[in-house]
Amino acid sequence: MWPDKTDGPALRAHLRARLALPLFVAPMFLISGPELVIASARAGSLVSFPSINARTPAELDRWLRRIAEETEGNANWGVNLILHKSNGRLEDDLAATVRAKAPLVVASVGAPSRVIGPVHDYGGLVFSDVASLRHARKAVAEGVDGLVLLTAGAGGNTGWLNPFAFVEDVRKFFDGPIAVAGAIGSGRALHALEVLDADLGYAGTPFIATRESMAQQDHKQTVVETDADGLSLSSLVTGIPANFARSSLLKEGIIDNNGNPLHEGVLDVASWKTVWSMGHGCGAINTICTAGERIDTMAHEWRAARQISVSRSAQ
Ligand SMILES: Cc1cc2nc3c(=O)[nH]c(=O)nc-3n(C[C@H](O)[C@H](O)[C@H](O)COP(=O)(O)O)c2cc1C
Repeated sequence: MWPDKTDGPALRAHLRARLALPLFVAPMFLISGPELVIASARAGSLVSFPSINARTPAELDRWLRRIAEETEGNANWGVNLILHKSNGRLEDDLAATVRAKAPLVVASVGAPSRVIGPVHDYGGLVFSDVASLRHARKAVAEGVDGLVLLTAGAGGNTGWLNPFAFVEDVRKFFDGPIAVAGAIGSGRALHALEVLDADLGYAGTPFIATRESMAQQDHKQTVVETDADGLSLSSLVTGIPANFARSSLLKEGIIDNNGNPLHEGVLDVASWKTVWSMGHGCGAINTICTAGERIDTMAHEWRAARQISVSRSAQ
């Protein structure tokens, strides 16, 4: 399925060769399902979806079978397992992932150690998302194959570090694949990551506004209509700082016109059905289109940006 996973540079080269562009369509709660996964993998991106988007482990089994069938042996997809103690389905969903031999697992919100052994045993890769150097070092020590660096401006539970600093610092101790999450909305941004010596842009927000996403129409439309000035960072929804369209926080009475919280404590997970999370890159997304069209546009922009770099260096 993959080359020797302990050889970071070989794995990086392998990913570069098998993808049409250096893109990873990121997993999103209530948004990513089989249609988005199949369309993105077919268009040449890596892609993953949260296991909990399937209503039950039995439905997850069906989704995994369908994805494997409809991507016809293209192994550019994976499952996102939420490791936080609040996820009571972790063991069942990990078992379904192992049964399906999902090519890739993205471990989020917790230490990846629980999933690395079972996934490596069948030959899968494990990426872990991290928001600090301490967590990145810990994940590498535990044996992950790749890292997702959550940086300032990412949609969902965001990071806070600047991507320039984060990538440079992680490269000092990790030579495997690095994906960067946070406002990656164009092929130019993908090329900028290559220049930084990262491998993949980890993009969620651009894929909310696609036909295959399971997002509500209002969420898709709000991504199209909002730019970075229209966002608020709030911990009120999950307890972890996340970026939201301010208009949706106002409409739901979560903040007042001055951005002050209107209640105490954390709302429950169902709130994600009425408030719209997105990252600072939303301004780059001006239409709802198919995932394949969005990926093709990004691939075209990426190739053009690389060409500009080559011509500039020849001057
Ligand atoms: C609506 C929404 C839901 C998300 N849900 C998840 C999730 O379930 N699991 C996860 O690991 N990341 C989740 N994320 C984070 C994304 O995987 C990714 O890190 C982020 O979208 C990248 O930043 P961008 O939105 O600026 O492209 C979510 C992001 C958004 C916008």
